[in-house]
Amino acid sequence: METAQFETDLSLFKYDNLEQLPPAYRDLDEDERTERIEAALSELGDDVVILGHNYQRREIVKHADFVGDSYQLSKEAANADADYVIFGGVTFMAESADIITDDDQSVILPSMEASCPMAGMAEALQVDAAWAEITAETDDDIIPITYMNSYADLKAFCAEQGGLVCTSSNAHKAFEYAFEKGDKVLFLPDKHLGENTAHRLGMEDEIVEWDPWDPEGKEASAAAENDIILWDGYCQVHERFRASHIEDLREERPDANVVVHPECRREVVEAADVVGSTSTICETVEDAEPGDTWAIGTEIHLAKHLDRWHPEVEVLPLCGDACMDCNAMRQIDPNYLTWVLEELLEGRERNVIEVAPEEKELAQVALDRMLEI
Ligand code: 13P
Ligand code: SF4
Repeated sequence: METAQFETDLSLFKYDNLEQLPPAYRDLDEDERTERIEAALSELGDDVVILGHNYQRREIVKHADFVGDSYQLSKEAANADADYVIFGGVTFMAESADIITDDDQSVILPSMEASCPMAGMAEALQVDAAWAEITAETDDDIIPITYMNSYADLKAFCAEQGGLVCTSSNAHKAFEYAFEKGDKVLFLPDKHLGENTAHRLGMEDEIVEWDPWDPEGKEASAAAENDIILWDGYCQVHERFRASHIEDLREERPDANVVVHPECRREVVEAADVVGSTSTICETVEDAEPGDTWAIGTEIHLAKHLDRWHPEVEVLPLCGDACMDCNAMRQIDPNYLTWVLEELLEGRERNVIEVAPEEKELAQVALDRMLEI
């Protein structure tokens, strides 16, 4: 295998669904829009804060006041004083920011198309039905935990049932919290993060999967006999990585180290040197010695940022050109950012994310429980 370099031309993937965008904003070139974004930001001053997830494009990250993982971004949102929090991320992150911020602050998602497919894999109604089936089979207390990558109604459901939210950086703590309060965990929606967390806690023999789409993939009595019930959701960006990518790399480059996200398959996580959230991945490369080599098993934009931010380290995408960008994150086109900012200058709030009040209160409970663990 030839060691993979950054050959992928990300412009090939440029998001071209700009339908919601007024025509005048569709063809801005980078220089013009950078100038306009900077001018708008300087006029708006402290009224606006831009939060950018580590997977955002370079053209968004460069305007962000804060770049981080989803846990850090929710903390930044909670501390923000600005009237407008512009969220460079996906819908579930913006919803969480809306839940956490004060009522007089508005959270703006530059493009309403930025929806994480994994979050859509566990709909609250579906979960309600599964819950009724499983709880009918046992007297044990089941605590639901939902990964941050889920919608507000599911977070509200978890709060109502005594559960909480977690991110990739604190899933193990959420499990510990749940097992102090109850007997079993229902983990949603990412089965890989759930499985990897169960292994971390030495509970790998307690796992059962629940596939809501397959009539044969969900048996309530079997689910009720196990301590950890994993909803069968996944992230396609992270499922792409295989143990063979790490084996091939180690053969060709025995000096290379591997860091992966816990949304990767179990065997990939097992073969990696370091596993952690996107901020752990950043810190790993930051702390590397000059001349070290790190292969990155996560979304390709972050691997490219790390390559740019740390020229002293050799940064490789773990599966080369097969590494994916996140289609949901990519929807935050910088032209949309220009538009929402210039609309604010005109006194118009576009693409405001507002969680329904009845869900907001409960989802806040689930998020607060996370922030306290
Ligand atoms: P982090 O919480 O590690 O930033 O991950 C979010 C995410 O969506 C990973 O796919
Ligand atoms: Fe969702 Fe995967 Fe994109 Fe993360 S990388 S936002 S889990 S689709």
